[in-house]
Amino acid sequence: MKGIILAGGEGTRLHPITKVTSKQLLPVYNQPMIYFPLQTLLKAGIRDILIIVAPNHSGDFVNLLGSGKQFDARFSYEVQDKPEGLAQAFLIGSDFIGKDDVAMILGDNIFTHDFAPAIKTFKGGAKVFVKEVHDPHRFGIVEFDAMGNVVSIEEKPDNPKSNFAQTGFYIFDKHVVENVKSLKPSSRGELEIVDLAKIYLEKKQLQAEALQGEWIDAGTFESLYKASTIVRENDLGIDLNNFPKLQVQIKDVKKKMFL
Ligand code: G1P
Repeated sequence: MKGIILAGGEGTRLHPITKVTSKQLLPVYNQPMIYFPLQTLLKAGIRDILIIVAPNHSGDFVNLLGSGKQFDARFSYEVQDKPEGLAQAFLIGSDFIGKDDVAMILGDNIFTHDFAPAIKTFKGGAKVFVKEVHDPHRFGIVEFDAMGNVVSIEEKPDNPKSNFAQTGFYIFDKHVVENVKSLKPSSRGELEIVDLAKIYLEKKQLQAEALQGEWIDAGTFESLYKASTIVRENDLGIDLNNFPKLQVQIKDVKKKMFL
């Protein structure tokens, strides 16, 4: 399975700090934000990863992450010229995806959940990962029947049918690109991930799994602050002991800083 980290967008909710850098490059406690979704994919066994970035500061992502060799992975990069929806990532990444299944994670989402079992047992269709929230108006909301099957999925509904939010980790099968091609932009002019999930739901191919542990979308000042606490308390992020080459690089940087 291939992986995509979607790190586009203008981060307007974090102005003025995102005027000079990308949201996904901001520090969350002791590491850049994008290290956390990267670690989530690596831990799930995904090594072939496309990183989709906004045009501004795009070079900084390459400077930070490089070819992927240091992470025992292979990174590719694409630019999302305008933030025209999460589902657009699959059009931008269509050559990269080819005929493979793909897992996508949002570049500002931090999880403690282990996605490896879901990735290993994925048999086609689509899978979203849900978490109970207190503010369902802010999220894509998934409704279930008594048997736990998905009944509906709605983006930021005025009258939410449940408290189960769709988080920023998704698995789609190899038909994802053709399915996105059949989508029309929503009233806010975006190709919505919820509309993509609905195509699978209509074919009875949409599954939802409850997340264990912590999940945070670090896209606001409050959640960014909370994310640092979660990262510190759970010792999250890239474990430098697993990546000796990266450790050497960081030591070099530290040495230079103290000279
Ligand atoms: C996006 C999705 C939404 C999902 C959320 C998770 O919203 O559109 O369905 O629940 O991510 O973080 P955004 O945060 O881009 O408004």
